[in-house]
Amino acid sequence: MDSNTIPVMEPDRQYYFMNKCKELVLDLKAKKNRPLTYCVTTFGCQMNAHDSEKLKGILDELGYVEIDDENADFVVYNTCTVRENANKKLYGHLGHLKNLKKKNPDMIICLCGCMMQEKHVVETIKSKYKFVDIVFGTHNIYKLAELINIYFNQNSQIIEVLDKSEKTVEELPQKRKYKFKSGVNIMYGCNNFCSYCIVPYVRGREKSRRPEEILKEINLLVSQGVKEVMLLGQNVNSYGKIYDYTDGKMDLQEEKLMSFPDLLREVCKVDGLERVRFMTSHPKDLSDELIKVMAEEPKICNHLHLPFQSGSTDILAKMNRRYTKEQYLSLVDKIRNAIPDISLTTDIIVGFPGETEEDFLDTLDVVEKVKYDQAFTFIYSKRTGTPAAVMENQVPEDVVKDRFQRLLTRVNAISNSRIKRYEGQIKDVLVEELNHQDNNLVTGRTKESITVHFPGDSSLIGETIAVNLKECKGFYFLGERTS
Ligand code: 5AD
Ligand code: SF4
Repeated sequence: MDSNTIPVMEPDRQYYFMNKCKELVLDLKAKKNRPLTYCVTTFGCQMNAHDSEKLKGILDELGYVEIDDENADFVVYNTCTVRENANKKLYGHLGHLKNLKKKNPDMIICLCGCMMQEKHVVETIKSKYKFVDIVFGTHNIYKLAELINIYFNQNSQIIEVLDKSEKTVEELPQKRKYKFKSGVNIMYGCNNFCSYCIVPYVRGREKSRRPEEILKEINLLVSQGVKEVMLLGQNVNSYGKIYDYTDGKMDLQEEKLMSFPDLLREVCKVDGLERVRFMTSHPKDLSDELIKVMAEEPKICNHLHLPFQSGSTDILAKMNRRYTKEQYLSLVDKIRNAIPDISLTTDIIVGFPGETEEDFLDTLDVVEKVKYDQAFTFIYSKRTGTPAAVMENQVPEDVVKDRFQRLLTRVNAISNSRIKRYEGQIKDVLVEELNHQDNNLVTGRTKESITVHFPGDSSLIGETIAVNLKECKGFYFLGERTS
């Protein structure tokens, strides 16, 4: 490789490597006399799902063809480490891949994402999973083509995991699952250090994208047919700070950009965009201004995901959440007063160290009082390196399981009765796909994020249709077009 010809600046550098890889993929295709395939498996949150769309965009560009089967020429696992069981799952999958690779020795296995940011994981892969070819973390996914290029030249295990983001590379290809809706990163990382959470360690410090970059991307998406965007960040309510990088090091001089409510107003001005969602909101940073924008802007979906994690003020303090049970409840009141019919969803953790029966009853109390449309419930999972992992009084497994079941029973009953209130109402449904079980039905979502199935065909995909929510079937509706 003549290093003089390799561009230093991004994204030119990555396009250079994409072109190099394209030639190598073409040669391989000719040798095998068949297309080369890839399969990307994603674990975890929406952020990871969106990262996977970027990885797929690059692999498509290189000439690989996507398939839904791990028996592919290029296999990617985009990993999650937020809870321990996600880690266990990955090692299980790797055993399976080892067997597949025996049959197709040219198979390239690539691991990336949050779990790779943990040193002990990378050590395990180096020593026990030598058949894994390429490993990278959360800070350099944009470099996929460059890393593949190195791999093609060296044919030995390539590992590049960085401690922090050196740069944000814009304008690389993306392959969206849906033509009409898309995630858009507005910020990366998290500064909150909730004591149970590994995210700040694996995703690094908070860094906002510039509003002009975000708006440019959304305008482009809309010109390609996108009607709905989901603005993504670990804590979108603290959007607005950017850290510049000098000589690859973080310059601590932070530059203030725009506030999140102002960004929302700008996003809503984009012509042709119909729906705006965002995720996730930390209650401590949710401003009155945000509530006002949500109430005023018709494009902003009538839905807020507001994790409370625990209803006990003592546990919240140990979790480093920086709000009390009462503050959370009065925030919910304020939101409901301004936007009476808003759909609220949440995340709850059961069995945090030191959680007593009384603490748990406080969690149940919040659930009863708020009446969430949907609640995602998690059993506390000890993550090495977080402050909570070394806290005393870890709760015995049988006690946690019992509490978890009791919680689940209540949240399910409440969301069932909440969703029923929409029965008989007419709502706009953005059609996403043909129903998997019945091809005479299509499936879509309302602005409240309720799933609706109704008679229709594939010509409706991507269209917004007025639908009568005729029959509530637990967590979803069967509906009928109004015209
Ligand atoms: N154990 C259990 N749940 C966790 N979450 C984050 N860290 C942990 C952990 N260690 C949950 C929180 C968060 C959601 C994305 O995952 O509820 O909001
Ligand atoms: Fe984790 Fe808390 Fe940051 Fe959310 S806000 S990613 S729970 S540290």
